[in-house]
Amino acid sequence: MKKYNFAVVGATGLVGRTFLKVMEEYNLPIDNLRLFASERSVGKTLVYAGKEYVVEPLKEGCFLGSDFALFSAGGSVSKDWAPVAAKEGAIVVDNSSYWRMDPNCALIVPEINIDDYKGKSRIIANPNCSTIQSVLPLKALDDEFHITKITYSTYQACAGSGIKGLTDLENTRKGEAPKFYPHNIAETCIPEIDVFGDDGYSKEEMKMVNETRKILHRDDIKISATCIRVPVAVGHGVLMQVEFEKPVDVVRAREVLAASEGIKVLDDPKNHVYPTSTVAKDNDTVYVGRIRKDLAVDNGLLLYSVADNVRKGAAANAVEIVKKIIEEGK
Ligand SMILES: NC(=O)c1ccc[n+]([C@@H]2O[C@H](COP(=O)([O-])OP(=O)(O)OC[C@H]3O[C@@H](n4cnc5c(N)ncnc54)[C@H](OP(=O)(O)O)[C@@H]3O)[C@@H](O)[C@H]2O)c1
Repeated sequence: MKKYNFAVVGATGLVGRTFLKVMEEYNLPIDNLRLFASERSVGKTLVYAGKEYVVEPLKEGCFLGSDFALFSAGGSVSKDWAPVAAKEGAIVVDNSSYWRMDPNCALIVPEINIDDYKGKSRIIANPNCSTIQSVLPLKALDDEFHITKITYSTYQACAGSGIKGLTDLENTRKGEAPKFYPHNIAETCIPEIDVFGDDGYSKEEMKMVNETRKILHRDDIKISATCIRVPVAVGHGVLMQVEFEKPVDVVRAREVLAASEGIKVLDDPKNHVYPTSTVAKDNDTVYVGRIRKDLAVDNGLLLYSVADNVRKGAAANAVEIVKKIIEEGK
């Protein structure tokens, strides 16, 4: 079997470390692996498949010989270095938001639109975490009933802010003052994720609006979103209020969701069965439940999805993209 050379940029971070875990679990055919992070981490070691690797600094030429480069070091690193990696011969899968809406870059959830990368840039974007766990069920429902409108409300875990977010949750739970979030995350939900625009929407909310349309190839869907940080370590929740062109049927909706790749329906609320962060943590399934008719509109459904935002919302989605490209014989 052919083996490939990999680079991981941001390897010491929350997503970077999870990349290494998922790459090993998914048994990627890796020949050579190189790990990169900021100057602060140069010389540190990380373990992959029982072997230690030394963290290196980014520099011109460092991607020569790499077939794939997985980036999770923030937007400015991706802006500057993803084009370098692509020029030096690697296929880049980037976790930051920087390239997502670039018309030349595919934005991929592998179960939905893996073919979008063909004929496009060597930089492939991984979508926003909350978007990934939303579009998977939405794609199944769109195929069946044709979506016209979506209203998202998110309940996003602190791991979505990386190591700094998790540390602030841990420290504020111990009674310390918040150092990262603008309020005490141990004591309150915070309706602020990423920076706000003049229209009152945050960047995170607009990522969900724009990325959903791009992945589903449906620029015509009306979408709005409200994103809220909650005092949970890992596992985002997203409530979706969805309207359709065709009449909806709850039983049929459950059937099409249950038959979809990557989704597990947990929907027996009277017996306390519904998606929770604890069920989703440390695995790559998108859990969907609380599926019911929306009483406020004619052809509407309400549903709630939960997934591990660091795995399915970031690392596992990216590794699955690479796996599918390899299977297609890159
Ligand atoms: N957390 C999530 O659930 C999630 C989901 C989807 C997408 N993402 C995206 O993934 C990226 C990383 O997120 P994270 O949660 O893993 O953050 P994190 O835990 O804070 O890790 C950031 C990583 O980037 C590295 N880095 C920072 N500045 C750098 C520089 N100038 N040059 C090279 N490396 C640099 C850090 O290295 P040092 O350790 O040396 O500082 C670290 O490895 C972000 O773009 C984020 O938006 C995160």
